Amino acid sequence: MTTTTTEAPADTPADIPAEAGAGGLGTALTTAYSDAIAEVYDEIYPSTPDLEDIADFLLTLTAPGASVLELGVGTGRVALPLADKGFRVHGVDSSEGMLARLAEKDPEGRITPVHADFAALDLGRTFDVVLAPFNSLCCAVTPDEQIALMHAVARHTAPDGHVVIETFDPSDYHVQKKNEINTYPVAGRGAMIESIGVLPASQNMMVHNTLFLDGEPPKSATTVMRYLWPSELDLLAGIARLELSARYAGWREQPFDGGDSRKMCVSVYRPLP
Ligand SMILES: C[S@@+](CC[C@H](N)C(=O)[O-])C[C@H]1O[C@@H](n2cnc3c(N)ncnc32)[C@H](O)[C@@H]1O
Repeated sequence: MTTTTTEAPADTPADIPAEAGAGGLGTALTTAYSDAIAEVYDEIYPSTPDLEDIADFLLTLTAPGASVLELGVGTGRVALPLADKGFRVHGVDSSEGMLARLAEKDPEGRITPVHADFAALDLGRTFDVVLAPFNSLCCAVTPDEQIALMHAVARHTAPDGHVVIETFDPSDYHVQKKNEINTYPVAGRGAMIESIGVLPASQNMMVHNTLFLDGEPPKSATTVMRYLWPSELDLLAGIARLELSARYAGWREQPFDGGDSRKMCVSVYRPLP
């Protein structure tokens, strides 16, 4: 896989060699899926005040102007508010469709886009914060892919830097017996129907979406995710020599007690010396 950055600054190579060991099923499926839904992504997952909280959360860890590598930048829903607060953000994504939407929303080029498989990434530099929000880590769909991704996270984290990973609590999904069906309106233009099935033995979720837009034939896309519990996340982090330093139930540092299902989990790791 050729990995490239566009409009790369001087400290980022324009052509990044991919490493072996990643780029598996997860990357192929997610890339096709992301390309298919990029045009409606911001309507389905609108920007919420929560996203503004991420910048404030990062400011509790590091100083304004710090460098951030966002894994799975998508349309820039998280990255653009970070840039607003002065963070210098590189955003990696394997989907050209997502990066095209980001470019439309960021005409000044405040975010440095990196078109690459994040699990194979080697930019040859480190960042003050490596950030994987909104379940991006779950886009790696096997334990081996998740380990490769965690090694990529570790090699891009400065020795005194932080890793911040947001994941959902999978407890309800893990015991789900029937597919969950969700409908998302796409304002004035149609709707997206989402069906989520679960394979508990492998901790995989099969997410199938069909997009119905006025005047267009229905468009379907399927992706796979691999969910994991916080203890497994800590295990993966340990394999990559990262140590848990804090865990919260949200970006406002809500206490994490492992209770409510589907609660988001924000984990902060530091590199071990
Ligand atoms: C759940 S979305 C999150 C996007 C963004 N962080 C947000 O909160 O809106 C996950 C993103 O990760 C990207 N992605 C998934 N697998 C990837 C991979 N192996 N390498 C790079 N990007 C990937 C997808 O294309 C998608 O844009």
